[in-house]
Amino acid sequence: MSIAAEARPVPTADWVTIEDLYRNPFPIYQKMRAEAPVHWVPAVNRYMVTSFEACHIIEQDQEIYSANETGSLMKRAMGHSMLRKDDPEHDVERKSYGGVLRPRAIKETWNAIFQENSDKYLAQLKAAGPGADFIWEYAAPYAAENLRRIIGFENATQEDLQRWSQTMIDGTGNYADDPEVWAKAEKSSAEVDAAIDEMLPRLRQHPNATLLSGLADMKIPLESIRANLKMTIGGGLNEPRDVLGVAVWALLSNPDQLAQVLAQPARFTDVFDEAIRWVAPIGMYPRQVTRDTVLEGMALPEGARLGVVLGAANRDPKQFEDPETFNINREKKPHLAFGGGIHYCAGAWVAKASVAAIALPQVFDQLPNLRLDPEHPAVDAGWVFRGMVKFPVLWDQK
Ligand code: HEM
Repeated sequence: MSIAAEARPVPTADWVTIEDLYRNPFPIYQKMRAEAPVHWVPAVNRYMVTSFEACHIIEQDQEIYSANETGSLMKRAMGHSMLRKDDPEHDVERKSYGGVLRPRAIKETWNAIFQENSDKYLAQLKAAGPGADFIWEYAAPYAAENLRRIIGFENATQEDLQRWSQTMIDGTGNYADDPEVWAKAEKSSAEVDAAIDEMLPRLRQHPNATLLSGLADMKIPLESIRANLKMTIGGGLNEPRDVLGVAVWALLSNPDQLAQVLAQPARFTDVFDEAIRWVAPIGMYPRQVTRDTVLEGMALPEGARLGVVLGAANRDPKQFEDPETFNINREKKPHLAFGGGIHYCAGAWVAKASVAAIALPQVFDQLPNLRLDPEHPAVDAGWVFRGMVKFPVLWDQK
């Protein structure tokens, strides 16, 4: 008997809706994981993989689970970036980012800029306080301005980066094929191309520490540089913003853990790790099966389009005790919020430095008695990307 014949058939989860996933996917994931590690989900038109073990297997095996998905909306919205390529093609482009996002560059160049940006947006909050929407008035501009400086867009504003990021991400999720969504994504894509075209010759003349400057002399096609930077604009902004929002929300909702961290600020690193485990900012990403296979006992046909659901894997009770609870004191175990294998997030050090080492301690230091606004509850939402969409906070003005 072949291995495939011994495998279990994949159940269909026709009860799952996009609306429910968007509002709160976690009870859905609990139900799915308890039944099987993989489901066919008609509403999403994919197989959703929800167990830690199966997601981990996929990340480590690019031959069976290819990132180069056919009919990818991301390719249409942003071009064919390294994120949708397998090795060896992927490796050449990943290496083109050099050391710009790595610890040495962060220490020598970016930490000072993150600090400057945190000071700037906290000063604006305090000037307008004693209340604000933490996501839209601090976390979003902070993350966008950090990314603008790292990429080296001297010819754009942080507001441009926020608009580019959101409209191109909307394109990658435009399953309804809404022409208005495509029009906005295409406009942003053209603006990014123009900004890159303007910066590259300038940076060849006057090189600096930025990503664009490093790419200016790389022997890779302009088309790839454009696609990779668009993917980085889409992927390097919302995630630091969202982990920052979720971490602050979780601490304000758990005053005992907040007190622990304030007594030992080095523990903001644990807060960061637990926040991205608890609510993975990238909740799901795609892969495609290259040949008939069996994944954790489930039969998958060649060509199957998968959703690797990090948001579910990170709450798998087989990997984490009491997984639905935010707990900075839990036993340390690997989570999948940054992905794994060859596509492991290139910006993980940047995210940790900017959020855990700088923003979180600064926020609690500068905004005394920071607290939730009892009149205006915070709202979290999303499943492909998840974070706070509304986050009113109050503090005591000094
Ligand atoms: C908490 C913040 C972040 C999270 C949770 C996160 C998560 C991820 C995940 C899950 C992937 C892999 C996706 C896949 O395999 O399809 C990824 C890839 C990537 N991320 Fe991040 N990311 C974060 C921040 C950043 C930042 C700040 C940057 C840039 C400054 C960045 C740049 C990238 C790039 C370039 C890749 C593609 C790597 C490759 O294909 O080899 N990320 N990220």
